Amino acid sequence: MNKDAFNGYVGVFDSGVGGISILRGLVRELPHERFVYFGDSAHAPYGEKTPAQVLSLSRAIVDDLVHAGCKAIVIACNTATSAAAEELRAEYAQLPIVGVEPALKPAVLSKRHGRVLVMATPMTVRLRKFQDLMAAWGDEAKVIPVPCTGLAARIEKGDLDNPDVTDLVCELVGEYAGEVDAVVLGCTHYPFVANQIRAVLGDVPFFDSAEGTARQLRRRLEECGLLAPNGQQGCVEFLSSKDTPEELALYRHFFQ
Ligand code: DGL
Repeated sequence: MNKDAFNGYVGVFDSGVGGISILRGLVRELPHERFVYFGDSAHAPYGEKTPAQVLSLSRAIVDDLVHAGCKAIVIACNTATSAAAEELRAEYAQLPIVGVEPALKPAVLSKRHGRVLVMATPMTVRLRKFQDLMAAWGDEAKVIPVPCTGLAARIEKGDLDNPDVTDLVCELVGEYAGEVDAVVLGCTHYPFVANQIRAVLGDVPFFDSAEGTARQLRRRLEECGLLAPNGQQGCVEFLSSKDTPEELALYRHFFQ
């Protein structure tokens, strides 16, 4: 990324297409902001790497986005937030860095004493951030975390109407069909297969992190006096480490 190429933009990144589900919420909440989205599709999936690898990939992306002039960062990835947010905030103390976390709190509050299924990557489920969240809300509901190995990688390939996607969802969570009261989509890739998950689990409320993250970004930009003026024309630019026209077309397709 060229120096100052994205001056005053909000930089948003994920391991690939998943963070676009968050980006859509950001654009709805903050239509006057300029966003640059970076998908690290060449290195996806993050959820099956080590935390040290995800930290190092995330750091390289944030360094680039800052070099390009971004005024704030959204880590639109539960896995990278768990593995890297603390360190990146310490390294970039002046920069607003907003992460995402599984929407367990609203799910539990919607159905106290119910059964809440949390679908997330193996790393998200394992790391302390989610373990703390479970400790905070685990008394209020029966929380069932399921590491969904392979699902984000499959979503990266697109062609989501292919029956193999529903087959994979069935393999991962089919045993909970009719057994849960709410579902938390704890990986930003999963909202893109919400219909397939619903087909397997039944018509229960789903919770994702897009709205909460957008509200948090608004708060942070306001606090730092960085909110775009109302007259500014918002925009979205897409970049990918798998820099091909096909990949960028896939990103635009997911955005729409
Ligand atoms: N979309 C990401 C998340 O929210 C990561 C998926 C992956 O690359 O494994 O966790």
